[in-house]
Amino acid sequence: MDKLLIEGGIPLEGSVRISGAKNAALPAMAAALLTSDRVELTNVPHVRDIITMGKLLAHMGAIVETPELPPTSMTIQAEQVNGAEAPYELVRTMRASILTLGPLVARTGSARVSLPGGCAIGARPVDLHLKALEQMGAEIGTSHGYVEARVPGGGRLRGGNVFFDKITVTGTENVLMAAALAEGETTIGNAAQEPEITDLADLLIKMGADIEGAGTSTIRVSGKEQLYGATHRVIPDRIEAGTFLVAGAITNGSLELTYCEPEHLRSIIAKLRDTGVEIRETAPGTLSVRGARKLIAADVRTEEYPGFATDMQAQFMALATQAKGTSVITETIFENRFLHASEMIRMGANISIEGRRAVVHGPTELSGTGVIASDLRASASLVLAGLVAKGETLIDRVYHIDRGYERIEEKLSSVGARIRRVQ
Ligand code: EPZ
Repeated sequence: MDKLLIEGGIPLEGSVRISGAKNAALPAMAAALLTSDRVELTNVPHVRDIITMGKLLAHMGAIVETPELPPTSMTIQAEQVNGAEAPYELVRTMRASILTLGPLVARTGSARVSLPGGCAIGARPVDLHLKALEQMGAEIGTSHGYVEARVPGGGRLRGGNVFFDKITVTGTENVLMAAALAEGETTIGNAAQEPEITDLADLLIKMGADIEGAGTSTIRVSGKEQLYGATHRVIPDRIEAGTFLVAGAITNGSLELTYCEPEHLRSIIAKLRDTGVEIRETAPGTLSVRGARKLIAADVRTEEYPGFATDMQAQFMALATQAKGTSVITETIFENRFLHASEMIRMGANISIEGRRAVVHGPTELSGTGVIASDLRASASLVLAGLVAKGETLIDRVYHIDRGYERIEEKLSSVGARIRRVQ
């Protein structure tokens, strides 16, 4: 099992290229199931979840070609996907497999997808996905841990009014893809507004879909009989960019981030500026960050986009341990997303958890020790803590971080971090 060994205390200096967004590439790959033509995706990050999704699509009969070197371009052609299913052994390693459900039902009239099950940060149900597909005419059954969906008589899904009781990113993506091939009009109410939704809609429109309102809370889709091949460049990863902004800030260094999209980072940038961090847009797609001589505590509340992203909460907590004063962090999206706090406390942080709130007193000196990663973003926050801690930090279970960060130790080493992968 790989580990990351970090020697802390070195200010990071230099330029980092931000990769394509994992959470945009995953739905884009699933969208290839909607057509028998070739779909080409570029700027796809070379991370474990993408490899897993590629295996899943190949298991379903699609041809998936991925040249080895990042930045990765990928072509997918799903000519024959009848009777396709998403087996548990693949789904359990990547919840986003649920994104194949909507496209498969819309394309073939039936689908069998393993229920993803929970993960460290919460139960992560998919009830809203299933309810929405039922509202579009699918019959949904769950048995032996699988979702079985079928359109009666093998016909097409029919468009309709879908309103999400709760904002769900992949739920919105599943319905958007299903509606693209459904019969008639679909309105999606209380839709997620993340940039990854807009990026998926851009791809679907290139494939011939008729979509309006992506990026707002109401999306209208006029279903088509057929969709076609397309070429699409995946948007930059706003969470990777946010993570490197914190890396520059927490080490009191000076970093330049290239190939990013500042427009997707407004709430993250605003919050980091509140703590005294200097962030400037120095060129299109380029951000520069300089650590503050003195970091000041700030409160943060995670919210759906355009609010402060839950996927940046753990990284912000690492920064808060070095900020002067008390930071109150409220996690409104997931019920159990403070697992990183206990590991930071072992490094010397002063954090107390009260339900959905974490109260961080700083600054505290962190000292390196052995820590265990629990989930993707928690592991990123432990890397950040290790970069500022005195001495060496050994992070176990780094397969979590490999799911969503492309070559993180190479990128960090290239700007001066003392980090290496060990067995
Ligand atoms: C997406 O997960 C992201 N994953 C997550 O990123 C991200 O944290 C999350 O959105 C929130 O922004 C991908 O895009 C692949 P949700 P998703 O459905 O779609 C509840 C990462 O780090 N809910 O928006 O699964 C759910 O339990 C990952 O890259 C239901 O109750 O999140 C949660 O409390 C982690 N029923 C809330 O809604 C449902 O049917 C938001 O979940 C669906 C969701």
